[in-house]
Amino acid sequence: MSKNRVLIFDTTLRDGEQCPGASMNLREKLAVARQLGALKVDVIEAGFPVISDGDFAAVQSIAKQIKGPQIAGLARCVPKDIDAAGAAVKPAGKRGRIHVFLATSKIHREHKLGKAQDEILRLAVEGVKRARKYVKDVEFSPEDGSRTEPDFLVEICKSVVKAGATTVNIPDTVGWAVPDEFGDLISHLHENVPEFQTGKAVISVHCHNDLGLAVANSLAAVRAGARQVECTVNGIGERAGNAAMEEVVMALKTRKNFYRGFSCGLDTKEIVKASKLVARMSGLGVQRSKAIVGENAFAHSSGIHQDGILKKRETYEIMNPKHVGWGKTELPLTKHSGRAAVAARLKHLGFKMNAEEINSIFAKFKEIGDKKKFVYDDDLAALVEGHITTVPETWALDYLNVSTGNQTVPTATVRLTKKDGKKTQVEQDASIGDGPVDASLKAIDRISKTKGTLMDYTIRAVSQGKDALGEVTLKVDFGDGDLVVGKGASTDIIEASARAYLNAVNRYLNNGRKGRKRRHRQP
Ligand code: KIV
Ligand code: ZN
Repeated sequence: MSKNRVLIFDTTLRDGEQCPGASMNLREKLAVARQLGALKVDVIEAGFPVISDGDFAAVQSIAKQIKGPQIAGLARCVPKDIDAAGAAVKPAGKRGRIHVFLATSKIHREHKLGKAQDEILRLAVEGVKRARKYVKDVEFSPEDGSRTEPDFLVEICKSVVKAGATTVNIPDTVGWAVPDEFGDLISHLHENVPEFQTGKAVISVHCHNDLGLAVANSLAAVRAGARQVECTVNGIGERAGNAAMEEVVMALKTRKNFYRGFSCGLDTKEIVKASKLVARMSGLGVQRSKAIVGENAFAHSSGIHQDGILKKRETYEIMNPKHVGWGKTELPLTKHSGRAAVAARLKHLGFKMNAEEINSIFAKFKEIGDKKKFVYDDDLAALVEGHITTVPETWALDYLNVSTGNQTVPTATVRLTKKDGKKTQVEQDASIGDGPVDASLKAIDRISKTKGTLMDYTIRAVSQGKDALGEVTLKVDFGDGDLVVGKGASTDIIEASARAYLNAVNRYLNNGRKGRKRRHRQP
């Protein structure tokens, strides 16, 4: 591999998924992992296997099904974590990676771990050695690396590389670093650890965005010798998030003249698709003005700019939007389109579905086709994603009637069905509320015997036109402090809201209440 090749380690499914309310189910994670495969990222960090049965299953399934990238599982320097990660990544064979981490900074050593430097060194080395029993590809992260004494960090790097680590990742765990300082730290490590110069081990960086510097710090690190960047799609992650993958990749590509030939192997045309998928699956929408993937990223409103673009695109556009996947619009489908056309479009959009699933999507497509003139690719993607995010339907919406107006007390009548073996239970109730959405959600609460507090609610038009599908994403707290995401789409926004809420209720009844058993706290 070229000395200037920068590996992209995507942690959307691990650090990204740690974002409150962003948790995804297995099918959602698989859909994201498949798209990361299409993007050709080098490593997918698929989860933290010891943390819950769900995380273990996700890492294992991704290791089994996704070909191409290395598949990594996270572990603390604790035998049971490493054993779980080893078992979870096993189906990936030689593409399995174990990522072990242990905090090294003074503040973490003294206040969190109560351990001295030599004890930390010993545990780090033991952890790496244990991981090497499972896989050849072992990454070690000294957590809070950017606040660790530089010379102790050199000692740690040398020891873990000697113990068998092939990548040492320097995390800026709390987003404390600034570019010049972080670049200097990476140069210091590069100069003092011979294996980083010979290429026997790779320096990686993992930057958080608390000061909005995650991408800048990552790029400074690349110039100083880092050859792996850890990042997430749309920059989602703990607190203010991680370095945004699309920004790192496009900065290296667009500013090749400055980054002297550094390259990554990504298929950048898959970026927008990945961004939209992650936004839908995680429930974390993308800000309109977000670089590269925001709706406005390539929208020029000023007349002077528009004029310049028409004369020569490069006057105001430093990247070609097509190179990141914008603007590939296909002819919309209509209610006259047949099953084969819908199946072909689903395949083109990258959705892997069996015949039964295509039939079910086709039925929903026909319903929507009757209500709106054109069914765009985004409409179809919303239908499929609604299908993927579906949890077992404890309660299904059968009937919804609302009465509302500026002189009326908003009232909703809801009928839900519950399947219990062969028996179908039908329950109906009504409620008043501040508005038709509030009334509908309250009626659902009365029937399902849940009490959710709406913490976040967003609605967006999936495609263009007054008849566009409205897609509602909401986050609900059912009283245990965990945020449960719900999604629903319909041409009627009250129905979309009721469906999204019901999706959250079902998710809670299937995972939440029974416990998405987090066995350990995440880092
Ligand atoms: O931010 C961090 O330090 C991490 C490590 C587990 C790499 O996420
Ligand atoms: Zn992190």
